[in-house]
Amino acid sequence: MNDNTTNINWFPGHMTKAKRKIAAQIKIVDAVAEIVDARIPVSSRNPDIPELIGDKPHILLLNKCDIADAKKTAEWLDFYKSNGVIALAVDAKSGKGTGEFKNSVATALSDKLSCYLEKGMVGRTLRVMVLGIPNVGKSSFINRMSGKSKAKVENRPGVTKGNQWFTVDKNLELLDTPGVLWPKFNSQTVGEHLAITGAVTDRILDIELLAMRLLQILKDDYMPLILERYSIDILPDDSYEALCAVGRKRGMIIRGGEIDTLRAANMLLEEFRNCKIGRITLEGVDFNA
Ligand code: G4P
Repeated sequence: MNDNTTNINWFPGHMTKAKRKIAAQIKIVDAVAEIVDARIPVSSRNPDIPELIGDKPHILLLNKCDIADAKKTAEWLDFYKSNGVIALAVDAKSGKGTGEFKNSVATALSDKLSCYLEKGMVGRTLRVMVLGIPNVGKSSFINRMSGKSKAKVENRPGVTKGNQWFTVDKNLELLDTPGVLWPKFNSQTVGEHLAITGAVTDRILDIELLAMRLLQILKDDYMPLILERYSIDILPDDSYEALCAVGRKRGMIIRGGEIDTLRAANMLLEEFRNCKIGRITLEGVDFNA
C-alpha cells in the first residue's frame, strides 16, 4: 500500500462510534439492506458489515446500475444467487428495479413471515436498516422508496447524518444508517476505485495516477468505448502516453506544446463519473482486491 492510500484510512474514532451505533440499532430491525455501487461491488462494501449484522436477514442492493455495465451486473447477480445472497440491481435515481425491493424483503424474511402468519400476527410492520458507505445512494434509495425528501442528497461523501426512520407503507419502515460508515482501504486498488468513482474525495490522491489507473482498466475491458469517446485510432500501451493522447485530442496543450495532463486527468475522471464514456464496471466477479 502506498502513502496516498494509507492517508485516506481516516477517522478510526468515528468509525468505532458508527459501528457501535449500528450494532445497537441492528437489534431493533428485522433485516438489513446493504447498498453498494454496482460499478465497484467489492470496494464499496465495508468489510466489517458481515460481522456487524451477524445472522440478521440481509438484502444486497447493487445501486447505480444505470451507469454500470449491464452484463457485469447480471454476472454479479448470478454470483450472489449461487452463493445464497439475496441481491437486486437498482437505479435509485430513476426508481428502476426498486419495485422489487419489497419482494426481496419478503424473501429474506420468509421464515419470520410464515411464523407471524401461523400466529395470526398479520400486518406487522417490518423494519429494515439501510447500510452502506457514503455516496452509494442510500438517501436516494430511501427517498425513492418512501416518497419523502427528508433524507438529504448531496454529492459529498459523508453527508448522511442522524438516525432517521422513513415510512414506505404501513408494512415497511426504513432506518437510515446510524452514523457514517466509512469505507475501508484494504488495498491500494480499493482506494483507487473508491476515488475514481467519487465515493471518496480525490483531492488527497494523485489525480494523474488515478486517471492512468482508470485508463488501464478501460484499455483492458472497454477499449472500443475509449477509442470512440476521444476519437483515437490506437491508444498507446503506456498509461501516461494514453493520458497524453486523450489530452491532445481535447486540445489540452500548455506552453511549449506540452500536454496539460492534470486537466486531461480531471476531464477523464469527470466524464467517467458522469457516464459520458459509457456504462462501465471496474470490478467484475473475478476481481481480487
Ligand atoms: P448516500 O446517501 O449514500 O451518501 O448517497 P446519495 O443518495 O446522496 O447519492 C450520492 C450521489 O449518487 C448523488 O449524486 C445521487 O444523485 C447519485 N445516485 C444515487 N443513486 C443513483 C443511481 O441509482 N444512479 C445514478 N446514476 N446516480 C445515483 P449527486 O451528484 O450528489 O446528485 P444529483 O445532483 O446528480 O442528483
